[in-house]
Amino acid sequence: MPVNDIIQLILFEEQVGKIGYDPDQKKCFFQYNPVFLEKNIYKNIFPYIIKRIESTQVFTDYSGQTFKGLPPAIADSLPDTFGNIIFKEWFNARHSERSKFTPLEQLTYVANRGMGALEYQPAKQIPKTSTINISEMVELLRKVLDQKKDISEKNLDTESLLNIFKMGTSAGGARPKLLISEHKENGAIIPGDIEYSDSYYHYLVKLSMDENAIYNKETVEYIYFQMACAAGIDMMPSHMIDQKHFATHRYDRQNGEKQHVLTASGLTGWDFRKPEESTYENLFKLALDLKVPYKNINQLYRRMIFNLVFANIDDHLKNHSFIYDREKDSWSLSPAYDLTFPLDLRFNFTKVSRALSINGKRESINKKDVLALANSFSVKNPKGIIEEVQEQVLSWEALALEQELPEKVIKDIRNEFQTLI
Ligand SMILES: Nc1ncnc2c1ncn2[C@@H]1O[C@H](COP(=O)(O)OP(=O)(O)OP(=O)(O)O)[C@@H](O)[C@H]1O
Ligand SMILES: [Mg+2]
Repeated sequence: MPVNDIIQLILFEEQVGKIGYDPDQKKCFFQYNPVFLEKNIYKNIFPYIIKRIESTQVFTDYSGQTFKGLPPAIADSLPDTFGNIIFKEWFNARHSERSKFTPLEQLTYVANRGMGALEYQPAKQIPKTSTINISEMVELLRKVLDQKKDISEKNLDTESLLNIFKMGTSAGGARPKLLISEHKENGAIIPGDIEYSDSYYHYLVKLSMDENAIYNKETVEYIYFQMACAAGIDMMPSHMIDQKHFATHRYDRQNGEKQHVLTASGLTGWDFRKPEESTYENLFKLALDLKVPYKNINQLYRRMIFNLVFANIDDHLKNHSFIYDREKDSWSLSPAYDLTFPLDLRFNFTKVSRALSINGKRESINKKDVLALANSFSVKNPKGIIEEVQEQVLSWEALALEQELPEKVIKDIRNEFQTLI
């Protein structure tokens, strides 16, 4: 294997191991650093798939679109749909002669800028940039995403493109978003890729980009955030920017430290695009196997009920994450995120079904099904949880009016809510 096809994996300033990649076979190699193993610290950072052994491990089962051949926990560091569009635009603007890169090469751009705490070396040097302005960034992003024009025709200066790259390529998910950090005292806003100190607030901002839409999806996500909090779901504090964009504090940047976080898909290798392993039962089993604090099981149940009642069918395995405690070497459920009404009201969506099944069902899930699940995982007082969540349905209309959603949209979304009987 050529030397430049090997990169180092770093976590909490420790050289954890090295990763190799064979692009022809989409096959990956991982070897722990013996010095790291000998220290006997952070034993549970990869609870599954990557074994804690000295010899080289070969991964051949993850060659599809989701993991790109990498061990799933490492693949979690790569961007998804939106980040990849930005990455490709930026890469193509700089390297006109080639448009292909391996996932390992992409990790050298992720470097120390990724979500969570995993870092990769060698790092491609990305210059530091100064303060930014969100509405300018959104305009720039519109230009970058303009499908009709080639990047060379878009008249973007290098600094702007660099900023978009720094803010737009790390986070996962399909919708447009930027990572920004805001200085706690002087309010200066900088790209949120490198800085993680406690002098800043660190946000993931989900952007409203479609000016012709009949309603603002980010506003709906904000109302869902309010209802979820009132229903007892733990979420990071969030707010709207310019009444358009949804800004949420990052749980992977807390107390001036990077937090090691993995999605349910990244932890287990269950492919979030495939239905086979996409079940709530699996998610509960995973939580139990990780030995999360018991109250997390009830919390997970509350989230499941919320997703059912409020028609959030986009509850896939990358929309649930766990967070690692480096002092205790243990895992717990991360705050909830991406709770929203995910469907497009303009289209007929009767054929779209829930990402995670319950009791073998993706549709017509009823009270019996969710009570059966509660029973299997010893959830305390499931009926009380259902009631508390369902009570929030009553707050939808007032909250939506407060945010000035069109009345027809308020009614149409309300019609999709489900009462569990
Ligand atoms: N508050 C947060 N702190 C840290 N990471 C977050 C936070 N919210 C979301 N993330 C991470 O960013 C990813 C993308 O966010 P989110 O799921 O909200 O975006 P999306 O584009 O709507 O996703 P989808 O493709 O599921 O519709 C998540 O999968 C999660 O890993
Ligand atoms: Mg998501």
